[in-house]
Amino acid sequence: MEIGVSILNIPMLSLADEIEKLNKEAIDYFHLDVMDGHFVENMTFGPDIMKEIAKVADKPLDIHLMVDNPKFFIEKVLDIHPKYVTVHYEAFKTDKAVFDVLEKLRSAGILPGLAVNPTTPAEKIKPFLSEVDVLLQMTVQPGFGGQSFIEDTLDNINQFASWRQQYQYDYVIEVDGGINDETGKLCVENGVDILVLGSYLVCAPNREQALEKVRGVQRK
Ligand code: DX5
Ligand code: ZN
Repeated sequence: MEIGVSILNIPMLSLADEIEKLNKEAIDYFHLDVMDGHFVENMTFGPDIMKEIAKVADKPLDIHLMVDNPKFFIEKVLDIHPKYVTVHYEAFKTDKAVFDVLEKLRSAGILPGLAVNPTTPAEKIKPFLSEVDVLLQMTVQPGFGGQSFIEDTLDNINQFASWRQQYQYDYVIEVDGGINDETGKLCVENGVDILVLGSYLVCAPNREQALEKVRGVQRK
């Protein structure tokens, strides 16, 4: 199991210092939540800040685009070489538009991801499974950190894990929102590979201990 840290709940003005600290922790990715104020009712940062983050971050970047126009952002982050860029299924009007963006990412050398809102049925995502490297199941409504894990999302997670086995796909399953040691354990037991930790880790009095608790869980 791997861990990404969402920097959403870190005050923007202390970002550089906090990233330096997190570089030393046992995490695998920096998870960057990009929000445009349209796709979700919140705004975070854009390409310029991500470029600054890339200069100080020692871990690969996992960019989560909660935006109406993913193409615009993708063009602008190519030169910081993120490992994953994930776009939301719900941001597109047609399946073809989803395929086009996934292909664009792959041809740029970025592993493409598709993110799924808690209320989106897994069935809608089935056509794209062979084209994605990461499937990001949102476990809260996207937009804000610090919300509670929605347990019903385990149905989608189970479905994605079972299709992966049935059709021999090789995507990883990532979860994002309300993840802590308990909800993280549930997810890993149901087939999840990457846990995104936001407020649980960033606001923990002892980050090392919080990470140890999460790392202690094993898949059944
Ligand atoms: C929500 C974001 C998440 C989230 C994680 O829209 O994508 O990355 O902020 O934060 P917590 O773990 O606090 O829910
Ligand atoms: Zn996220």
